[in-house]
Amino acid sequence: MTKIIFDTDPGGDDAFALLWLQSLAKQGLLELIAVTTAEGNINSKLTFINASKVLSLGGFEQVELGRGVTVKNLQADDAAHIHGMDGMGNISNNLPAAKHDFEKAVYSDDLIIDKLNAYPGEITILAVGPLTNLAAAETKNPGILEKAKEIVIMGGAFKVPGNVTTHAEFNIYYNPEAAAKVLSSCNDTVVLPLDITEKLLFTPEMAEDIMSNSQNSLTQFISDLCGFMTEANLRYRQTKGVKGFLVHDGATIAYLFYPETLLFCRAKVEVETQGKHTLGKTFFDERFTAKTDANSWVALQVDTEGLLASLLEDIKFLCMN
Ligand code: BDR
Ligand code: CA
Repeated sequence: MTKIIFDTDPGGDDAFALLWLQSLAKQGLLELIAVTTAEGNINSKLTFINASKVLSLGGFEQVELGRGVTVKNLQADDAAHIHGMDGMGNISNNLPAAKHDFEKAVYSDDLIIDKLNAYPGEITILAVGPLTNLAAAETKNPGILEKAKEIVIMGGAFKVPGNVTTHAEFNIYYNPEAAAKVLSSCNDTVVLPLDITEKLLFTPEMAEDIMSNSQNSLTQFISDLCGFMTEANLRYRQTKGVKGFLVHDGATIAYLFYPETLLFCRAKVEVETQGKHTLGKTFFDERFTAKTDANSWVALQVDTEGLLASLLEDIKFLCMN
């Protein structure tokens, strides 16, 4: 069974993806080995607490949880304007208290190192926040990331504009050095960029569909989160006037379980770490087909309808079980 480490900064769409993962785990399709939280959408304490609450909500509070490595002198702002002051739609107080203890928790980079050493070649890392934890693990223990079966990243923007600057997407812009390190340390990362994730709109109608199927604390959370994120995505013009919640981070799960919904190209992905206007830009040289020094598979097309239909079915399953 696929063993997963979910590296995340919840984050509305992170929380949603974590629920999707829990559904697939309940269906016996994966084993959630650890969740490693990262600083990003909000500070590391809140991403940890949010992840803990979402694990409890889905019934997976026993899963090990790491606290995010913090980086001094990082200039990037968080994304509280999109995800709420608590990082999770300002509704995290409606959830049961966190079961994991932030103060006593192991750091995410150490947890990643431990697990990769314990299960070499077996673990898929789904990285849906800034890549700080993965880069820190590689710095502490060079070569460790090569022990992952696969590293699947939500991040970057190639043929579409960024969502933080014209050139850069949030997860990469937040810590470009970390992203560059991870990409240059692995030969086979999978990259799910804004090019496809900006098409993944979870609509208010889908939330209603879930609510009409079953009503409990989980469906209420999904409905409230969808409502908050829909407003935020509209306010910041991320959905071009269409109502819906952009579930970017779920694309990593689609890659693993619904690969027929994605089309990839092979490329050598690089990250701009110096540029005045282009800091955090992801790019590959399109003049050549990458044959020898490619490091990634980049998704550039998605079957939006198919992917969202599978997501909806799986979330309904979790809500009823
Ligand atoms: C990414 O940035 C974050 O705000 C989201 O959670 C997602 O991981 C999209 O650019
Ligand atoms: Ca995220």
